[in-house]
Amino acid sequence: MDFNLTQDQKMVRDMVREFAMNELEPIAAEIDESREFPHASMKKMAKLGLLGVVIPEEYGGAGMDFTTLAIIVEEISRVCASTGVITAVNNSLAAYPIYHFGTEEQRKKYLPLITSGKSLGAIGITEPNAGSDPASMETTAVLDGDHYVLNGTKCWITNAEGAGVFVIFAYTDAAARHKGMSAFIVEKDFPGFSIGKHENLMGIRATGNTELIMDDCKVPKENLLGEEGGGFKVIMHTLDVSRIDIGAQGVGIAQGALDAAVKYSKEREQFGKPICEFEMIQDMIAEMATQIDAARLLVYRSASMKDAGAKRFTREAAMAKYYAAEVVVDVTRKAVQIHGGYGYSKEYAVERMYRDAKIIEIYEGTSQIQKIVIARNELR
Ligand code: CAA
Repeated sequence: MDFNLTQDQKMVRDMVREFAMNELEPIAAEIDESREFPHASMKKMAKLGLLGVVIPEEYGGAGMDFTTLAIIVEEISRVCASTGVITAVNNSLAAYPIYHFGTEEQRKKYLPLITSGKSLGAIGITEPNAGSDPASMETTAVLDGDHYVLNGTKCWITNAEGAGVFVIFAYTDAAARHKGMSAFIVEKDFPGFSIGKHENLMGIRATGNTELIMDDCKVPKENLLGEEGGGFKVIMHTLDVSRIDIGAQGVGIAQGALDAAVKYSKEREQFGKPICEFEMIQDMIAEMATQIDAARLLVYRSASMKDAGAKRFTREAAMAKYYAAEVVVDVTRKAVQIHGGYGYSKEYAVERMYRDAKIIEIYEGTSQIQKIVIARNELR
């Protein structure tokens, strides 16, 4: 296994790091407070090719690999977890399934919209009664002439406020359970489609997270994504890909927290010397750095498997996501601890990072779901 990044990957990492420091970091606290979706940042990111990283150039993408996408999500999340997950969702939960499962017409019509940022992408899987168990979703799609008619409500939809193109899942045959679910590409302006209440979240607050409501929503027949009845496999494969990026988001937040803790520990003096000279602080810093490196290696491993063309990397993506979640919650807690009372205040970014970290244990499959996936693979 090659642990070195390629020249291209290093170049993209440095470019995104500079962009994130100059453009995203200065507004991260502000958008966390206001919950304002970062439309202006998205326009800038589109120009840099960050909204269609793995999508081939013929569809407006940057034609790069999945490891580079993980690096980009990490670098952005290091300074702004909201913008990090908006990037991850747009790339791996919206553009990727349309590219991977879509027809040529669907690719040509929708990918340039998503990659250019004209219409960002989002995905609608979760419902009020279907979280860890997406097969229990209640949204239905009934074929009526040349349209499907969708009815149902989706919730906790990241990017919803900023998006124009949604990948939505519904039952075309509820009795067939996993084999009766289908995926659809739904435009924001389709009749019967509307955005519901804007959630007031604990962290990742600027992600435009809302409900989606489909009330006799008319979706053209040609917007079926993949085969009728193939929707559950679209969800599972897409989540395998995007869990790599949520792992990367966790690594990025954790790295940002470690950087802040190291800086603060050198500046803050107690008992007549900088607190970084105390071994209990060094103990925490050593643990944080090691945890982050281990999580990053798991993220890179799963991304490089996808890059190498592996058909299944379910276990490795689940491990990366699960472990990065453990790490980011622990590392941000330690970063707040190193900052003491100041870390508990909004004056310091680690307060926001600690709140942002928690979601990594929850979305795109809770840590308990990742463990089920990993254990099922071990027991097979
Ligand atoms: N790739 C391809 N196929 C897969 C698969 C994968 N990774 N995992 C399962 N399948 C297939 C199985 O082979 C099986 O196929 P057959 O019927 O042909 O045998 C079928 O799918 C059903 O599989 P299971 O019996 O394993 O399904 P299950 O109902 O027990 O569920 C689960 C498995 C892992 C628990 C799954 O439900 C799961 O991942 N749950 C978590 C849901 C989740 O992550 N939601 C996140 C929402 S999106 C989000 O969070 C976005 C955001 O905000 C940013």
